[in-house]
Amino acid sequence: MTPHCHFYLNDREVKTTRPRGLLVLDYLRHHQRMTGTKEGCKEGDCGACGVLIGTLTDGEVRYEAVTACLMPLGELHGKHLVTVEGLNLPALSPVQESIVEEGASQCGFCTPGIVVSLTGAMMAKGSDINQADVKTALSGHLCRCTGYASLLRAGERMIDAAKTLSGGDVAQREHIKTMVAQKMLPAYFLEMPTKLAGILPWQQNGSTKTSPVKFIAGGTDLYVQQGESLPDQQVEILNLYPEMRGVRSENGEIRVGALTSFESFAADPLVQQAIPEIKEYMYLIASLQIRNRATLGGNIVNASPIGDMTILLLAMGSRLILKKGNERRSLPMREFYTGYKQLAKSSDEIVTEIIFPATDRNTRVNYEKVSKRECLDISNVTSGLRITVDQGIIDAVSLSVGGVAPIPLFMTNTCNFLLGKMLKTEVLAEALMIAQAEIAPISDIRGSAHYKRILTRQLIIAHFCKLFPEQFPLEEMLAGLLE
Ligand SMILES: Cc1cc2nc3c(=O)[nH]c(=O)nc-3n(C[C@H](O)[C@H](O)[C@H](O)COP(=O)(O)OP(=O)(O)OC[C@H]3O[C@@H](n4cnc5c(N)ncnc54)[C@H](O)[C@@H]3O)c2cc1C
Ligand code: FES
Ligand code: FES
Repeated sequence: MTPHCHFYLNDREVKTTRPRGLLVLDYLRHHQRMTGTKEGCKEGDCGACGVLIGTLTDGEVRYEAVTACLMPLGELHGKHLVTVEGLNLPALSPVQESIVEEGASQCGFCTPGIVVSLTGAMMAKGSDINQADVKTALSGHLCRCTGYASLLRAGERMIDAAKTLSGGDVAQREHIKTMVAQKMLPAYFLEMPTKLAGILPWQQNGSTKTSPVKFIAGGTDLYVQQGESLPDQQVEILNLYPEMRGVRSENGEIRVGALTSFESFAADPLVQQAIPEIKEYMYLIASLQIRNRATLGGNIVNASPIGDMTILLLAMGSRLILKKGNERRSLPMREFYTGYKQLAKSSDEIVTEIIFPATDRNTRVNYEKVSKRECLDISNVTSGLRITVDQGIIDAVSLSVGGVAPIPLFMTNTCNFLLGKMLKTEVLAEALMIAQAEIAPISDIRGSAHYKRILTRQLIIAHFCKLFPEQFPLEEMLAGLLE
């Protein structure tokens, strides 16, 4: 018997044996006839399908905004799915009222998702919510054809309304309690921790191990590429195994579960210590809704030559832990890519962990990305550098460049050249020439090969200007090396 997927949809308990690979969006609209969640692009770009997913963690339910068009139904097991219908109260909520009062309603496709995302931001931040949070929450709602400024004004009004909530380092459940008490959220939210705790974990739910045809992690690549066929396939939903998530430190190394989402990765204090500007890099990568779903493992296995986290993690000198049945092995990430979308792993092996060295006081890390738009766009060329310098000598160096080869490229020759050298302009100039010999960009929709060569050069210079502004002042670089 197929085990049922058991979850809560707004205030209702649901048990379903529909295909686990079915999209949450299709399930809502076609099977539940709940059409408040809209279908726009069906590729994660427009935000029309925005919903909140509540996950029980340490006794409280934490909600995240995600796109229903890239999420498998099977992953809802044990979770709380909140749609725009589930946010309605007898009177308008503060978010709905702010949108009405400021004339900020967008078209019928966009508005429901926006209401959901803004409510999610208020639940997460309470009275600490600010305009930057509002913009981040709106980042996954691409079309603004009916008025961008009015939405920001609605955000201001909503921030005022949130002043009555708690703030500071308070758990989401406290915000939720106050929002319910102040009639900003329906009361059923208060029952969810107890209700979700009553659902058996997937592994004890009568599920039997089958040979999966497809592993699904966040689904943000897979559903864009193969969305139509996944409901008919045998799938393994990796997110039902939460032990593959989270960050910990061990023996001078940072170990990251492959299912860790971009957003959780950037929010982790250990990661922030190792990659000090990680939160800033997130503005360059996808939208909040996608970052809440996209996993590091998915980015690495997808093998896109311009995968942002892939390029960053290559530069961190990462190694991967691969698992098949009870067998585990460790592989340097730079050996994982053997050709365009070709990997040094079998189809039934999964990546369980990514491990990189912790950053000491002599080590610096930088990441650069160039894309047509600054935010929410794929890269033309991207690059990461991790470098350790002691008394002016390069003790360790790890440089990666994306978008200039069929694989995410670790710059072995350039690194070998830099190792043991003095940190000075002449050395950088020679390294730039070696780097040019190491890349093989092609002309495509993201730019000509010549343009990508120039970008590679500029991004490597940018690393050194940012990390060592005394030795490599930007003005001098502009006048000299950059000519
Ligand atoms: C709107 C939008 C914007 C995006 N913007 C960016 C961006 O700015 N930068 C960027 O780099 N990417 C971006 N992406 C692409 C995507 O979000 C990332 O590549 C993401 O990391 C994929 O992870 P996932 O967990 O969703 O993978 P999935 O789609 O679940 O899986 C991708 C592939 O990896 C396999 N897989 C996943 N996890 C594992 C594992 N642990 N072991 C073995 N195999 C596994 C799957 O079988 C599948 O073949 C964007 C996508 C969308 C839809
Ligand atoms: S339908 Fe556009 S993001 Fe889902
Ligand atoms: S398509 Fe909805 S506001 Fe533009």
